[in-house]
Amino acid sequence: MSKTIPVALGERSYNIHVAPGLLAHAGALVKPFASGVVPVVTDDEVARLHLQFLLAALRHEKIEVQPITLPTGESTKSFAGLERLVSALIASGVDRGGMIIALGGGVVGDLVGFAAGIVKRGIDYVQVPTTLLAQVDSSVGGKTAINVAEGKNLVGLFHQPKLVIADTALLKSLPKRQLLAGYAEVAKYGALGDAEFFSWLEQHGNAALSGDDATMTSAVAHSCRMKADIVARDEREGGERALLNLGHTFGHALEAATGYSDRLLHGEGVSIGMTLAFELSVRLGHCDAPSARRIRAHLESVGLPVSIAQIPGERPDAKIVLAHMEHDKKARNGRLTFVLARQIGESFFTRDVSKQAVLELLAA
Ligand code: GLY
Repeated sequence: MSKTIPVALGERSYNIHVAPGLLAHAGALVKPFASGVVPVVTDDEVARLHLQFLLAALRHEKIEVQPITLPTGESTKSFAGLERLVSALIASGVDRGGMIIALGGGVVGDLVGFAAGIVKRGIDYVQVPTTLLAQVDSSVGGKTAINVAEGKNLVGLFHQPKLVIADTALLKSLPKRQLLAGYAEVAKYGALGDAEFFSWLEQHGNAALSGDDATMTSAVAHSCRMKADIVARDEREGGERALLNLGHTFGHALEAATGYSDRLLHGEGVSIGMTLAFELSVRLGHCDAPSARRIRAHLESVGLPVSIAQIPGERPDAKIVLAHMEHDKKARNGRLTFVLARQIGESFFTRDVSKQAVLELLAA
């Protein structure tokens, strides 16, 4: 059931290991990269669930560990959180030739990757993602960042990990809503570039989400393989990597319009955003209506939201959502950026969408 996926980036190449129960083998996987003391950074919640197990697996291989536990939540991914982590890393005694382990979801992974990129001008790090979203997206590809007052993920750098260890059995401890939100990113891979994978998900997605290890491992590994291939061809997002943002222009704007609150998780925004991106593609004559209906039907069938009306609370105003899109970090000269589709598995990047078309869709 175990899969190893290479990310081919020359001297920055690394492997993604995907399997249930992999945490028990973390020591052996990490050993070739470890030297001196290895800080293991996590958050309170993940520490309660998985930290001792990981530390034991590392100590079993005689790796000297130094746990660092951060407060759980998005506010840790800030300048203040970065400063605290950098101090703790320096105090841990990790040296330039050493490495750091990030155990957690996207917040921990993004923050640790950034800190690893700047402490002592760059230290290696290993990603041990514990959420579905982190296993299929944020732990792979080397994007690291913190949030600032002006927006999310606006300060960061590209710093590839040395290794990604995705233990799919850890996903069983996730709340159902968070697991589903991560699944939106899995479905995204089929929608943006692999019609066969999307059909497979239509048949097996529910089994993966219901705790079937083999199916979930296949879904995570396939998603990682697609991301690894895209990143290998376009590490710095000069072109193709932008396709990974399918559903994100609408999704980010909806997250912003709902105040980044519990009303809408990132993956839920992506699910609604993907549905809207396919609907927009149909309206603009790029895509056939049955494809858009299949996207909506599958996301709905697993229990993800597919329309703005499903967001609890007051409906976000279309003009405010559009204003957030205009401020998206990918927008240029006031022109909106979208990933649209020709069919399931065939997407393209465009700046040629009028604001009127978007407003009409949002109002519909
Ligand atoms: N999450 C999108 C990317 O890594 O490019």
